[in-house]
Amino acid sequence: LLPGLSDIQQADNLAALGALAMDCRACPSWENATRAVFGSGQGLFRLMLVGEQPGDQEDLAGIPFVGPAGQVLDRALAEVGFVREQIYITNAVKHFGFTWRNGRRLHKKPDEIAITACHVWLEAERRVLNPALVVMLGATAARSVLKRPVTISRERSKIIPLDDTTDGLVTVHPSYLLRLPDDSTRQREYENFVADLKLARDYLH
Ligand code: URA
Repeated sequence: LLPGLSDIQQADNLAALGALAMDCRACPSWENATRAVFGSGQGLFRLMLVGEQPGDQEDLAGIPFVGPAGQVLDRALAEVGFVREQIYITNAVKHFGFTWRNGRRLHKKPDEIAITACHVWLEAERRVLNPALVVMLGATAARSVLKRPVTISRERSKIIPLDDTTDGLVTVHPSYLLRLPDDSTRQREYENFVADLKLARDYLH
């Protein structure tokens, strides 16, 4: 069950939207999560970053990108001169999805049902923020924002028009960088990621 659609459409600030999202039952992913993790940050520079879904640590803290992927993201943002609290960071899916393995909650990629159900929140965040640029971190974010399957390698690093006032930019998800086994590949891919964030910064300035 989605909180009243007219309430969502009438909400004119992110705090109000975030409060509504806490009661979202539009797909089953709320059941095992601690809470909905809504977007955070001041939304300066008309920049919005979209990730996949909260992980274990985000679910507990109630804040997006505070775990290992968040640390990579923070470092990369700092390298291009962004402070994370100043921009707006959110996820395509707001509840943590996981399976238990060896006593640990292992992240499970969100399915089509969760992505589609959660889309209303992302749309509402975009309406309230009216960002100039939406940076999509990885395939789930890109799929949700562009509403079609996306191959990252084919579409990254270029400006994609989204609507009259907003453009998009696809890049990798920071957890992809964490999964790369080889140091030199990881370093090279990290630099490519920073280069994409530089594109975003230069686009906005
Ligand atoms: N990965 C994401 O996509 N989002 C988070 O908030 C944390 C990890």
